[in-house]
Amino acid sequence: MASLMFYLSATVLFAQSTVAFNCSKAPIYVDIHKRAVHGSAVFQYGSFIGVGNAAQNNSLWPSLSKNHTSFAGGSYCNTKDTTLKDCITSTGGFFDADQSSTFHEDKGFKALDSDSNSTFTAIYGHDDVHLYTHYFETDGASATNVTNTTIAVAQDGSITPAIVGLGLDSTLLQDLFTQNTIAGKTYSLYIGQGFDRASGAVNGSNVFGGYDAGRFTGPVHKYDMTLDQGESPLRLRVKDIVVTDNANPNTNVSLLDKGKFSNTTTTDFVAEITTDQFPLSLPYDVTQNFMKQLNAKEDNTWGDNSLMLNDAFDGTLSIVLDDGFVVTIPSEVLVNKSNITPIQKRDEDSTAPFYLSAAFLSQVYLMMDYESYSFYLAEAVQKNNAVMPVTFCPKATPVAYEKPSNGAWVKQGLIGAVIGGVLGGLGLAITAYCFVLGCRRRRAEKKLERELEKGKQAKMAQMEIEEAPEFDPPPKSATPFFWKKR
Ligand SMILES: *[C@@H]1O[C@H](CO)[C@@H](O)[C@H](O)[C@H]1NC(C)=O
Ligand SMILES: *[C@@H]1O[C@H](CO)[C@@H](O)[C@H](O)[C@H]1NC(C)=O
Ligand SMILES: *[C@@H]1O[C@H](CO)[C@@H](O)[C@H](O)[C@H]1NC(C)=O
Ligand SMILES: *[C@@H]1O[C@H](CO)[C@@H](O)[C@H](O)[C@H]1NC(C)=O
Ligand SMILES: *[C@@H]1O[C@H](CO)[C@@H](O)[C@H](O)[C@H]1NC(C)=O
Ligand SMILES: *[C@@H]1O[C@H](CO)[C@@H](O)[C@H](O)[C@H]1NC(C)=O
Ligand SMILES: *[C@@H]1O[C@H](CO)[C@@H](O)[C@H](O)[C@H]1NC(C)=O
Ligand SMILES: *[C@@H]1O[C@H](CO)[C@@H](O)[C@H](O)[C@H]1NC(C)=O
Ligand SMILES: *[C@@H]1O[C@H](CO)[C@@H](O)[C@H](O)[C@H]1NC(C)=O
Ligand SMILES: *[C@@H]1O[C@H](CO)[C@@H](O)[C@H](O)[C@H]1NC(C)=O
Repeated sequence: MASLMFYLSATVLFAQSTVAFNCSKAPIYVDIHKRAVHGSAVFQYGSFIGVGNAAQNNSLWPSLSKNHTSFAGGSYCNTKDTTLKDCITSTGGFFDADQSSTFHEDKGFKALDSDSNSTFTAIYGHDDVHLYTHYFETDGASATNVTNTTIAVAQDGSITPAIVGLGLDSTLLQDLFTQNTIAGKTYSLYIGQGFDRASGAVNGSNVFGGYDAGRFTGPVHKYDMTLDQGESPLRLRVKDIVVTDNANPNTNVSLLDKGKFSNTTTTDFVAEITTDQFPLSLPYDVTQNFMKQLNAKEDNTWGDNSLMLNDAFDGTLSIVLDDGFVVTIPSEVLVNKSNITPIQKRDEDSTAPFYLSAAFLSQVYLMMDYESYSFYLAEAVQKNNAVMPVTFCPKATPVAYEKPSNGAWVKQGLIGAVIGGVLGGLGLAITAYCFVLGCRRRRAEKKLERELEKGKQAKMAQMEIEEAPEFDPPPKSATPFFWKKR
């Protein structure tokens, strides 16, 4: 008996240690911005992903909790149970399964995602999903196809059902790995701010099996995923929240300061990272202190209970995590021109989780490793000029791109060049360098100039895109090998 146990455990150990990750696999970069979607005349913000054959293109919002990737069925807005506001122009596109030659419904399918009132009902099936990589507005997109993967086709509900499911049991990540397309179940996200609620201009990106080394800066901060039943894997302990008035930068006010706010009982708290809502949800006493400090009132202009200030405020809010990493919400995000904040009202008796949500993710780059159950955060680069997807090898620590200081890299002033090649190093394959969005940026600049003229400096400061690329091109010796001049 003992020897059987020995054999079993030895086998398990052996199996675990031989899971092979091919870290030469290029990652898949899928950008997030507003674009045309199937079945709607309105551009919608999300990840450029198509489904079926012929492909029907949709804009999918990344979810860090859902495990299935879903699309709005053709009649999502026509059923009486659908309560999504402005449904026809808010679903992220539509998928008409009847028009896809490869869709197969799976009637007995047992969904991995728990039903909850606040989402949608769906039929499940299998179809081909097309992940589009689109570096340049002027160039075509290239597709990575995930064949016969699980999809949900939403029938009715209250939310935008076009979702890339990137939860712990993500079927898309699993299939990308099983179909030998990515190195491992790793994924990175910058959510951006180009959507209506954030009302910014910076677009986001997903990297499947990789991360965008140009999208973050400074040290990366490592956290363990929580694997407890019913808990989000992405939990952070917050030890302080500090408000700084820009007019008086030497006076930081801690919203957890018992001396200043007598009713404060919170000393620290655990919050989940989520993309499911924009505003942060903080403990009741901290929310009350925020309202007192900034003279805020309850409001529901945007349908998400974001607090509104009575008077304009020029300052920042810093979230201090227990490892010392500080994420600062800049003034134009903390209070916009209509005095709306990204902090949600909180009921005293609420038992809902605390959330570090999309407003938080607009300032940080999130990198997740489902093979080692770790995730990483780093400060997001807002004004990035280059997209640099690199392989995120499971168990490896992501490293930000650093501009080389030696003379080996020569400035060539190329904007909008796509470069693909392997620069190697430490198990990371730098698979594509891409100096982005020449045209898109110039157009954005023109638009910015107009808006700046209208006196919107404060709001635009963060959204400003630099004129000249800050990134230098790769070494000359490698030039003929992977420079594609445009
Ligand atoms: C690893 O992936 C690369 C790129 O897809 C491929 O060329 C190579 O053959 C793979 N190696 C193994 C051992 O599968
Ligand atoms: C974001 O993407 C949109 C296309 O939806 C583009 O018009 C805009 O210029 C992009 N913004 C930036 C800052 O690149
Ligand atoms: C996704 O799968 C994980 C792991 O099984 C589970 O904990 C989580 O609740 C699932 N997500 C949803 C939305 O049900
Ligand atoms: C769904 O809504 C009903 C009625 O509002 C409520 O009783 C029930 O607890 C909710 N279920 C979940 C899972 O939230
Ligand atoms: C979907 O997007 C792809 C990539 O840009 C494009 O080739 C295709 O024509 C689009 N499909 C439709 C129906 O517009
Ligand atoms: C991927 O899917 C698209 C759309 O259906 C198709 O045009 C393309 O040929 C497919 N690519 C591969 C490599 O199968
Ligand atoms: C697609 O996947 C389902 C479930 O895994 C399987 O039953 C079916 O045979 C597959 N179809 C094809 C064409 O591979
Ligand atoms: C401020 O934010 C709210 C909610 O996103 C939005 O409705 C409003 O238009 C924004 N105001 C300005 C001036 O951008
Ligand atoms: C104010 O708080 C921020 C965030 O914690 C910190 O970086 C800064 O040094 C503080 N300033 C002072 C004067 O304490
Ligand atoms: C503290 O809480 C008590 C009881 O809820 C309330 O009466 C009092 O006004 C609060 N004090 C402050 C300073 O908010």
